[in-house]
Amino acid sequence: MNILLIGSGGREHALAWKMRVSPLLDQLFIAPGNAGTSLLGQNLNIAPDDFSAIGKAVLEYHIDMVVVGPEVPLVKGIGDYFLNDPKLSGVPIIGPTSRGAQLEGSKEFAKQFMLAHNIPTARYLAVTSDTIDEGERFLKKLKAPYVLKADGLAAGKGVLIVEDLNEACNQLRVMLGGQFGKASETVIIEEFLSGIELSVFVITDGHSYMLLPEAKDYKRIGEGDTGLNTGGMGAISPVPFADEEFMGKVEERIIRPTIEGLNEEGILYKGFIFFGLINVGGDPFVIEYNVRMGDPETEVVIPRLRSDLVEIFKAVAAGNLKDLKPTIDSRTAATVMLVSGGYPGSYEKGKNILSLDHVEGSIVFHAGTTISNGVITSGGRVLAITSLGNSIDEALEKSYENAKVINFENKYYRKDIGFDLK
Ligand code: AMP
Ligand code: GLY
Repeated sequence: MNILLIGSGGREHALAWKMRVSPLLDQLFIAPGNAGTSLLGQNLNIAPDDFSAIGKAVLEYHIDMVVVGPEVPLVKGIGDYFLNDPKLSGVPIIGPTSRGAQLEGSKEFAKQFMLAHNIPTARYLAVTSDTIDEGERFLKKLKAPYVLKADGLAAGKGVLIVEDLNEACNQLRVMLGGQFGKASETVIIEEFLSGIELSVFVITDGHSYMLLPEAKDYKRIGEGDTGLNTGGMGAISPVPFADEEFMGKVEERIIRPTIEGLNEEGILYKGFIFFGLINVGGDPFVIEYNVRMGDPETEVVIPRLRSDLVEIFKAVAAGNLKDLKPTIDSRTAATVMLVSGGYPGSYEKGKNILSLDHVEGSIVFHAGTTISNGVITSGGRVLAITSLGNSIDEALEKSYENAKVINFENKYYRKDIGFDLK
């Protein structure tokens, strides 16, 4: 079959790398892709939310399935666009339609969903500019620190954690005043939960689900989890504290009620669900839902999946996922992200990337790269270096060796990925 993959990051390179080895795959197209994906298929210069251009490409290249990497096209309704066009409605999409994508697209929807289906999450109140006073009263009832979240998509920047009550009240007004545009017309105030986070992934055909390896990512730019938030600086899978007992609770209290809840609400969901969880004294709580795989988590989850990913996607589309059991590599995968100096603030692009062909013992997934007289940087997160090993240290050692080998001007990476798991 011919597959079109939407997106351009390390997550998409990892998905493309895995699909490429499937005997079920004929041609692979990636829109828009990066320098790494161009070695695995044909990059198409189409933006992920240009649905009409995507639809045209699907017809022109006889594409049999579309796999959506990032959340934006899902929340904007790529699934609905296909279903509403008789020429495209027969082409399955891996990713929910816009109703299911609300799990990520609206934090208020996600909170109401969890409340309705008894899924453990932090206490909250949704506030608009008409209910600021109520919001302030709710804040006063909570203990510091205070968590404020823009309801809509805000490119990972819409969550503020504030120590001081007065500042939290001020921030609430600033957010509702348009700090994140339409995304913060509603703000969720949440109780702060204290614990260690992890990312749990399933893929579902709407009825059954397949549990994928869990992972932990490192979001801050600085060592020891300090400094600004980034898209993710590295990841580890498996997560040692996610043992059988903990994962049993995750399945029973969170994953199953989520799948059943979607069914009860009449939402046919075919795609990935990413549960952003926090372990509070041995009990899992949902911090957020995402309707896609994580990045850089995919770069450690996918290398541990031994099963045929295209076969899994076909089963999702056909609704017979329950017949498949995944085979997982028991080794540890670690990924270290090489980023452009200055990221997540301003940084320069267009730097030559040297010695990619000198990498040994790791897989290099491209994130922000493009080709112009060789491979050059084109984003903040540039390359994810993934390695497998018999322990976290063994996997990390290989990634760090290769992190030194690859070079570009102002290269930066965290040297303490996995520090809290050892
Ligand atoms: P989100 O975009 O909802 O994942 O939030 C971004 C980050 O803020 C999370 O990864 C957590 O580290 C933190 N966070 C969000 N909600 C809470 C909460 N209720 N308690 C503690 N930390 C939180
Ligand atoms: N690594 C977190 C995310 O993909 O949202």
